[in-house]
Amino acid sequence: MPTAVSLFSGCGGSDYGLRQAGFDVLMANDILPYAQAVYVANMPETDFRHCDVRQINSFPEAELLAGCYPCQGFSQGGVRDADRKINFLYREFLRALKLIKPKAFIVENVSGMTRSTFEHLLKNQIISFRLAGYRVSWKVLNAVDFGLAQERKRIFIVGIRSDINEVYEFPEPTHGENRTQPYATQQDIIGNLPEWPLGDFCEDAFHWYYLSRDRRRNWNQPSKTVVSNMRHVPLHPMSPKLIKLGPDEWKFETNAPARRLSYREVALLQGFPMDYVFPEGFSLAKKYEVAGNAVPPPLFRAVADALPNIWN
Ligand SMILES: C[S@@+](CC[C@H](N)C(=O)[O-])C[C@H]1O[C@@H](n2cnc3c(N)ncnc32)[C@H](O)[C@@H]1O
Repeated sequence: MPTAVSLFSGCGGSDYGLRQAGFDVLMANDILPYAQAVYVANMPETDFRHCDVRQINSFPEAELLAGCYPCQGFSQGGVRDADRKINFLYREFLRALKLIKPKAFIVENVSGMTRSTFEHLLKNQIISFRLAGYRVSWKVLNAVDFGLAQERKRIFIVGIRSDINEVYEFPEPTHGENRTQPYATQQDIIGNLPEWPLGDFCEDAFHWYYLSRDRRRNWNQPSKTVVSNMRHVPLHPMSPKLIKLGPDEWKFETNAPARRLSYREVALLQGFPMDYVFPEGFSLAKKYEVAGNAVPPPLFRAVADALPNIWN
């Protein structure tokens, strides 16, 4: 079994995908207490280090390094400030890469990193990884093309150590028109769940900001991107349609009851299994936060599965 170290591991989305791809995840890390609680409830064998990554001085030897450094600065929802300190956490990933020197690495981040405002930061990262001795490729993938019932575009950066004579090829989409399987729909994934799972969904009012755009998709479509802030999570498909009144202004078509997706529905649309444990004792907002921030496990698995066999 090839071994992996994971940084910025959250509640374990990327690492659950890695395990399914056959990796033994030796060590994981996150600064968020609830991320640790969820992670260890589901993957107790991994040495989870709950601390700021900057406090970790040594890492176990491993063949793969995975990391999804925070992305608020690049995301549409976050403050678009290319110089926010948080964007430089990738240097911590680079530090680990230079210490561990794994055979390969995988990074996931928001696709906003490819926008012209942030291009210089993406280039910095790629150049740094090349200088560290890796052949680097990157691509924006959409989760819906890989069987998830969710539109979610993310950039993946994959590197293979230069002394290994292999090049990484990204996986081809498997779902959608003219592909082997049709897109998955919300009906497929959350269609048989209770309509009103009280306590599991955010009941805050639908304020003007929420209604500044269309937040709903039909049962027979994939969901819109699920996010980490529970107030901004898309509508459950049983909610009435939203109709456009003008620029940035939408309203419900009828007075029928409406609700946001629950945290469990968010987790399922991210590709976590139904029995993925979200321990009690923390707020509902924390459950949404870690589930919405995760990398969809099946997407991370597809990227890891496409690595050449360089492990023996
Ligand atoms: C995009 S999320 C990672 C999602 C995760 N890979 C998954 O699939 O579930 C980024 C994570 O970085 C963590 N983080 C932010 N700053 C950190 C730091 N200084 N040290 C360690 N973790 C940090 C956040 O708490 C968050 O969980």
